[in-house]
Amino acid sequence: MKIKKIEKSNLSNIDFDNLTFGDVFTDHMFVCSFKKGEWTNPEIKPYQPISISPSARVFHYGQACFEGMKAYKDQNDKIWLFRPKDNHDRIVKSSERLAMPGIPEEIFMKGLLKLIELDKDWVKPGLGNSLYIRPFIFADQASVIASESDEYKFMIICAPANTYYTGDVKVKIEKSFSRASKGGVGYAKAAGNYAAQFYPTILAKKEGFQQIIWTDSNNHEYIEEAGTMNLFFRIGDTLLTAPTSDSILDGITRKSLIEVAKKEGMKIEVRPIKVSEIIEAQKSGQLKEIFGSGTAVIVLPITGFGYEDKKYDLPKIKNPFSTFLKKKLNDIQYNISDDPFNWRVEA
Ligand code: COI
Repeated sequence: MKIKKIEKSNLSNIDFDNLTFGDVFTDHMFVCSFKKGEWTNPEIKPYQPISISPSARVFHYGQACFEGMKAYKDQNDKIWLFRPKDNHDRIVKSSERLAMPGIPEEIFMKGLLKLIELDKDWVKPGLGNSLYIRPFIFADQASVIASESDEYKFMIICAPANTYYTGDVKVKIEKSFSRASKGGVGYAKAAGNYAAQFYPTILAKKEGFQQIIWTDSNNHEYIEEAGTMNLFFRIGDTLLTAPTSDSILDGITRKSLIEVAKKEGMKIEVRPIKVSEIIEAQKSGQLKEIFGSGTAVIVLPITGFGYEDKKYDLPKIKNPFSTFLKKKLNDIQYNISDDPFNWRVEA
């Protein structure tokens, strides 16, 4: 791998106490090209703009997908990744759906580990601090013919991160727009899945919500996921989450929380969830919590939701499951506790 280091780090210019998610990037980036049927030329270079033809297919047909992962620093300054192989597996799955070549695990991991080694001072210790890592693949062949590209770039960029949302998060259960349909690309981390959500989310924001809860595209009867998160509902003392499908992202935080909850002996059901069930549980006082899960947010309590012109507030309860599960997961991620699942990988 070719490595060109930055001449002077940008680190001292960063106000780590006032980071907004995803605005600041570390000193280096990893780039690898796909040409003539193979991944070639892996290199790390200073973070910088890239040059790309205006006719590159990514701009016209959205042939692109990405991953979100995090590195955490423990009290002894060791850096840990959380289930990186799962991110690699998922980007390969997403790539396949978008007719893009899968990035080999060796290139993905070598690039990732070297990048973190070079930018290790950007990973701050302390609960809540992390390095958000964004691997992505896009079609950069110059041609507007509407078919899959023969050329791609795989890149990894990293952003120091703290919280994703500041303030309360309320969600709207959506009945008009859809995120994904059967047989579509909903399970893939396709760039276009996110772009398609922006407009309905802008409308929801005008009504006082920060995100949307997507429902199935057939009848808007079943809960799917939220804009940047999978979802958990607590009814009584039982946790519910929807099974993954071709319209729901197979969230790594989601499946980790399911395993942690099971290990802790919590009641958890992975099954289709009807919107009507949530509304009834809210009306009967049995709906105790809703929370989102995702790499960026980890576990995010939701304080209220809207459905069909009605707004509902969730109760403020003592010892929420969301806090308990977030702590259990963070303890593993920050090397505070044992890791009975073997999820941590030292960087
Ligand atoms: C993540 O949690 O990593 C995501 O991919 C959500 C992102 C769109 C911020």
